[in-house]
Amino acid sequence: MPKLTIQAPAKLNLTLDVLRKRDDGYHDLSMIMTSVAFGDTLSITSGTGGDIRSTSNLSFLPNNEKNLAVSAALRLMKETTLNPNGLNIDIDKQIPVCAGMGGGSSDAGAVLRGLNQLFGQPLTLEQLAKIGEDVGSDVPYCVLGGTALAEGKGEILTPLPHLPDCHIVLCKPNFPISTPALFAKIKTQKLRHRPDTDGLIACLHAQDLAGIARRMFNVFEGVLPNHEGYKINDIKQTLLHHGALGACMSGTGPTVFGIFDDLAMAQQAVEDLQPYHKDVILTKPV
Ligand code: C5P
Repeated sequence: MPKLTIQAPAKLNLTLDVLRKRDDGYHDLSMIMTSVAFGDTLSITSGTGGDIRSTSNLSFLPNNEKNLAVSAALRLMKETTLNPNGLNIDIDKQIPVCAGMGGGSSDAGAVLRGLNQLFGQPLTLEQLAKIGEDVGSDVPYCVLGGTALAEGKGEILTPLPHLPDCHIVLCKPNFPISTPALFAKIKTQKLRHRPDTDGLIACLHAQDLAGIARRMFNVFEGVLPNHEGYKINDIKQTLLHHGALGACMSGTGPTVFGIFDDLAMAQQAVEDLQPYHKDVILTKPV
């Protein structure tokens, strides 16, 4: 049976701006996304007969269309004449769920890329990204990966230069944040602070790591409930105290990340955070 193993990297938001509420209830966004070396690994086996299903190392993950990886495979079948004659997607889940790191979306992006590869690349990445739009707003980006500006609902993508070499510390505090609830709290006309998206893009072109890190900004940090806001700020302060060039929350959180140019400092930050948080990861850009 044809089988393929593929990586699904975690994504981080270097910037996240919410521009306006749309008539369809979604929001127009402007965000700079980047992928990191840390992520999930998917093993896709086709020709298994029967349904499209998933298995994983986490018992609580759904294994039907509620899993974005399965949903992406079903969507690809619906939009094309491709037929795998039964499919199993085994997910080695390392990206914490509901963390703001795009775990489910990245799995979906990897499934679209992986199936296309198994079938001999009949579709372009742009066609796969288009199919991903209906699976989730971050899926088109996850099909392309790298560093990119994402606009509209997240589907209008402009590739950008990669992050310069650096060390990235991820820390996910142990409380959930509801994405729809946070979107509902954003009053776009009242936002007083927004990211300097153009400035950060200029720093990416100049490969100015300190300039990039200084400009990282996420408007959702301003509408967090007090208790969660304090905890996010605490992690940011710890990262900065250990020499991070910048620190920011990713997506709708709660993961916070810091960018370091010095490995020893990044390792020290990990050591300091680990006693208090289960998910603390040292990684690099990809
Ligand atoms: O598309 P996805 O399922 O990832 O979106 C999750 C939720 O995030 C949506 O139900 C919506 O509340 C919010 N959202 C939004 N505008 C976007 C993306 C997501 O309002 N551009």
